[in-house]
Amino acid sequence: MEINNVAEVVEECVEKNGNALIPVLQDIQSYYNYLPEEIFDEVSQKLNIPLIDVYGVATFYKSFSLTPKGKYIITVCLGTACHVRGGQRIAERIARELGIEPGETTPDMNFTLETVNCLGACALGPVVVVDGEYHGQMTIQKSISLLNECRNELEREEENDSSKS
Ligand code: FES
Repeated sequence: MEINNVAEVVEECVEKNGNALIPVLQDIQSYYNYLPEEIFDEVSQKLNIPLIDVYGVATFYKSFSLTPKGKYIITVCLGTACHVRGGQRIAERIARELGIEPGETTPDMNFTLETVNCLGACALGPVVVVDGEYHGQMTIQKSISLLNECRNELEREEENDSSKS
């Protein structure tokens, strides 16, 4: 994947967040969907923070990713409350449906599947999060419907793109 506008993106994120490394990295990640290797030198120079410290923070926090993620990030909770209500079966079914394992991204870069140990919404369990949106009391059927909604959205985007070109 080609990474464009590194200097501009980093500049914009630094202007917005000042010298605060974590918010700068968070904004860069929202732009690219992950932290590409190309940004590290630029961030280090702009914030005047040693490169090793920028890497240190980016690799310390689980919320940062150094590998590209899909357009849709699907997170299935496997914490105890969700697990006993079927979270594991939901995760397995989504994995099968997408043809990937948790932690992986589909080759078309459309979906990343993740699992976590608690999302702090145990009363709603089992919980599945799609791009930051929480969906509670999930079932296998509901999670397949969610996937299909994402797929429909992707199809619409493709149609729009091809009608523009
Ligand atoms: S165990 Fe799933 S939200 Fe807490």
